[in-house]
Amino acid sequence: MGAVSESSTRPFDSSVMPTVTMVGGGQLARMTHQAAIALGQRLRVLAERPDDPAAQVTPEVVLGSHTDLAALRKAAVGSHALTFDHEHVPTEHLHALVAEGVNVQPPPRALVYAQDKLAMRRRLAELNIPVPAFVPVESPADVVAFGDEHGWPCVLKTVRGGYDGRGVWMPESAAEAESIARDQLAGGATLLAEQRVELRRELSAMVARSPFGQAAAWPVVETVQRKGQCAVVIAPAPDLSDDSAAAASALALGLAAELGVTGAMAVELFETPAGELLVNELAMRPHNSGHWSMDGAVTGQFEQHLRAVLDYPLGDTTPLAPVTVMANILGAPEAPAMSMDERLHHLFARMPEARVHLYGKGERPDRKIGHVNILGDDVAVVREKAERAAQWMSHAVWTDGWDPHE
Ligand SMILES: Nc1ncnc2c1ncn2[C@@H]1O[C@H](COP(=O)(O)OP(=O)(O)OP(=O)(O)O)[C@@H](O)[C@H]1O
Ligand SMILES: [Mg+2]
Repeated sequence: MGAVSESSTRPFDSSVMPTVTMVGGGQLARMTHQAAIALGQRLRVLAERPDDPAAQVTPEVVLGSHTDLAALRKAAVGSHALTFDHEHVPTEHLHALVAEGVNVQPPPRALVYAQDKLAMRRRLAELNIPVPAFVPVESPADVVAFGDEHGWPCVLKTVRGGYDGRGVWMPESAAEAESIARDQLAGGATLLAEQRVELRRELSAMVARSPFGQAAAWPVVETVQRKGQCAVVIAPAPDLSDDSAAAASALALGLAAELGVTGAMAVELFETPAGELLVNELAMRPHNSGHWSMDGAVTGQFEQHLRAVLDYPLGDTTPLAPVTVMANILGAPEAPAMSMDERLHHLFARMPEARVHLYGKGERPDRKIGHVNILGDDVAVVREKAERAAQWMSHAVWTDGWDPHE
């Protein structure tokens, strides 16, 4: 009686569970860590600051810059795979790590198409995938000639390093384009110009692919941008024909295989008024357009990314409700006097079905500080709720005029 024999017990041995290193300590790494916990894994992050969203929550933090090869090496030691929460690591550092035996996923030869918008546009054009007309801009005259040919306004973009609309300009005239190009080129930026596409709306086709070659697609979603950044995602995209949805998914799965992508990948798409789909850009990591899947699909994007980079079998991507809407909590012009905690209390009191994800970030105007997911049946109802919840969390104002103290 009593003592359990030694052979029948086994302590949890974390050393047999894989460690994944994620470069970047932002909210994507924070939520990947959350998924790692469920799988019995740890996520190590290379973060710039101890109060970065992921550095606050994972015990394995390497402090340093993603542009410092020594810091990248330190973060990679002993980990089973090295992956990313952003695309800003210099490509030559990634090649150096691969040469030293680090398991970089996605591999740099694929990741470059998420890092470099010109390389991506050229490769996709070669593959006969529809993209907006584009041209490299080496002098202000290049963008002027392009705009005169394709019409104003046109789009100027930095080839590398842009995010959340930073690094995207839409000059209305030759004079404006010339001055932006001159300033940016003088500052050392590499630029491209694109035709400004007339948009019916924007879509995202998200997939994941493992090194073994297994792949899975979530339903194609609609993304709503405000001030150049994602604000709302509707899953699946309303009123998208089965044919278009299937074509977008096939395009994303085909690209993932063709480019050798591993992990999660979002293909950002433009839908034109005629229903044509053009590729805007690729992101090879968990992506804002996949946040809905944390609560709205059998397997969320963060767990799927871990499974994929570790070459596990992938999870089921089936949605859990007819509609899921994700609304980003974007910092108000002025942070409200009411604390975030009190806002959360009120939200939960009013909307028990709201699934809230907060990133541990300070409030600044338009900064992504969290998101809310709502599941349901009716797009308009679910969207209104999700946006009302997100607006409450950022502004402490109910958009329908409700007052908790009345
Ligand atoms: N050629 C274009 N025609 C029309 N709109 C465009 C074009 N290029 C970009 N946009 C608009 O600007 C937004 C941001 O552009 P893009 O995705 O290239 O920039 P980013 O800053 O790298 O993106 P992200 O916000 O995804 O990090 C797009 O989602 C779209 O709304
Ligand atoms: Mg984008």
